[in-house]
Amino acid sequence: LHVAVLMGGWANERPVSLMSGKGVADALESRGHRVTRIDMDRQVAARLAETAPDVVFNALHGVPGEDGTVQGMLDLMGIPYTHSGLATSVIAIDKELTKQALVPHGVPMPGGRVVRSEDLYGGDPLARPYVLKPVNEGSSVGVAVVTDESNYGNPIRRDAEGPWQKFPSLLAEPYVRGRELTTAVLGDRALLVTELVPKSGFYDFDAKYTDGMTEHVCPAQIPDNIAQLCLDYALQAHRLLGCRGASRSDFRWDDEQGEAGLFLLETNTQPGMTELSLVPEQARHCGISYADLVEIIIADALR
Ligand code: DAL
Ligand code: MG
Repeated sequence: LHVAVLMGGWANERPVSLMSGKGVADALESRGHRVTRIDMDRQVAARLAETAPDVVFNALHGVPGEDGTVQGMLDLMGIPYTHSGLATSVIAIDKELTKQALVPHGVPMPGGRVVRSEDLYGGDPLARPYVLKPVNEGSSVGVAVVTDESNYGNPIRRDAEGPWQKFPSLLAEPYVRGRELTTAVLGDRALLVTELVPKSGFYDFDAKYTDGMTEHVCPAQIPDNIAQLCLDYALQAHRLLGCRGASRSDFRWDDEQGEAGLFLLETNTQPGMTELSLVPEQARHCGISYADLVEIIIADALR
């Protein structure tokens, strides 16, 4: 096959995407496929038209790339591509739209609301502790946990460093204490549950991509009923959103609250494929090598 691996671009997650793209491209070459590596720029449509691949492996993360823009372009060009399509991407990249799609079907997600950054200077939108996050970023870009101890001020000061300086609107959600869990879905199968135990206490960008900064416990050492709920909700989210190929749903679990303490935070339609990423790790535990995983995702795109 001739596979164009789309990566990079100008999203905040560009460095992550370059790592994902390299991993995918190297694996495809090791399997004897012809690979064209494309670091996305504004000429990407022309570049793809000239490359004329059999299929695009979309290794982009964030906006643009995970949000439907690239998917729509590829639809128009008639080029098959991996992972989710246009409509799913538009909804899943937006954590608020995701809630509207999943909560009515019984998938538990934290409450909260979208606030304008400006409004934070007038007072807290929710009781502390709460989380502020851009509605459409990944890899914890722009996430802040606001606790009673935060030195942002109360109300938040304009000059305090935080996502309110860069993102005009933010999702404010009650902070779920406890543990960080994640489940990959490949095709129509929820794989496993991994617990992330960051050494710094918060699974932020550095904890995600610096080797040794987070312990990955796979499979997670949690009660069977909680693990089963993670698998069920991840698969339900994958289906309700209409995901294709692979997705990964992230959870917080307040272990003092039992089943009522489990919340899905979001479903990632372009989950990371870096060396420290979780979908490849869960696949490996299920006996699927990295290169096999890449081939499975491509086969799905060509069905
Ligand atoms: N947003 C990153 C790439 C992930 O979900 O894995
Ligand atoms: Mg994400």
